[in-house]
Amino acid sequence: MEKLRDEFMDVFGNGDIKPREFFAPGRVNLIGEHTDYNGGSVFPCALSFGTYAVARMREDKKIKFYSKNFEKLGIIECDLENLVYDESQDWANYPKGVVKIFKDHGFEINSGFEILFYGEIPNGAGLSSSASIELATSVVLKGLFQLDVGMIEMVKMSQEAENKFVGVNCGIMDQFAIGMGKKAKAVLLDCNTLKYEYAPVELGEASIVIANTNSRRGLADSKYNERRSECERALAQLQKKLNVKTLGEISIEEFEANKNIIENETDRKRAKHAVYENQRTLMAFESLKAGDIKKFGELMNESHISLRDDYEVTGGALDTLVELAWKAEGTIGSRMTGAGFGGCTVSIVKNENIEEFIKNVGAEYKGKIGLTAEFYIADIGDGARELI
Ligand code: GLA
Repeated sequence: MEKLRDEFMDVFGNGDIKPREFFAPGRVNLIGEHTDYNGGSVFPCALSFGTYAVARMREDKKIKFYSKNFEKLGIIECDLENLVYDESQDWANYPKGVVKIFKDHGFEINSGFEILFYGEIPNGAGLSSSASIELATSVVLKGLFQLDVGMIEMVKMSQEAENKFVGVNCGIMDQFAIGMGKKAKAVLLDCNTLKYEYAPVELGEASIVIANTNSRRGLADSKYNERRSECERALAQLQKKLNVKTLGEISIEEFEANKNIIENETDRKRAKHAVYENQRTLMAFESLKAGDIKKFGELMNESHISLRDDYEVTGGALDTLVELAWKAEGTIGSRMTGAGFGGCTVSIVKNENIEEFIKNVGAEYKGKIGLTAEFYIADIGDGARELI
């Protein structure tokens, strides 16, 4: 932090007002993938690493953003009274969008400010670097302008910024996990009602290992939107018989009895994933609460198979990394995490086997795919906040 404070001074100058420090984590989803925008449940947790923000008010109406991750782009300047998407401003559209949405919701942001960001989350790895910078910006705004705004409202506005300002049609899982995360706990969120419940992540003699395929998520955005439309089409057909608003309200039995109403086979597979994955997530939550880690791991494995075969969002790199993990000694469960098409896997591995796991899975993955995987032992941390 001290280093970041010094860098803040180097970039923005000394000034009379003391800058303040904020943090928003990344997230990893344990299970419940591509269920959030289908009105189902998700079960993510916040990580101990994420995005740091050092911020200070200005006396004029200028907003200045600087990221240590994009130093070449320098200081990006925006006008508080004219907040529009600007492609040339690249990453800064994320925080800029958050400011715009806060203002649209009537929050009084009436003077300029400057923020230096430093992100520890690899971009495009499925650990939500974008939601992390959105929530970091939200807590900066709340802090600097003393806004009377709750975390869930900030979560919703951050999602709105990504949907409407940046133009990525994401669900609410990432922002929720990052805003509402709690140390050593995962949060079960019903994305239909926004009811949530925490469960302690007690894995006995095992830990969560995240592995980055280092394969970029090519086509991720267009495929993401395509999956959303496929599910919407399937839902519209099911609604001819079922009185539901989302796929998340449908039980497995109801789905099986009515699935043939969905004419298109691909749409039927997508809906099947959404319905089954939602039920798996609820079961996983119960298994974790009951201390049945073995069952939890089996559900993770089933989740991956469904994402691979029915939802078709995995691809060679993710499948290889997961299959190698399944074969490795000490693996209790393994699956892709996040949107897919590249990015990270999440595994539960017995502590005594982690070292070997990283060595062997890493080497075999390199041999098969030609890329170097990176491994992190996940430490579950608290949600977005001011650091005092
Ligand atoms: C991305 C989106 C989330 C969610 C996941 C898939 O991370 O931002 O809203 O849909 O993909 O579960």
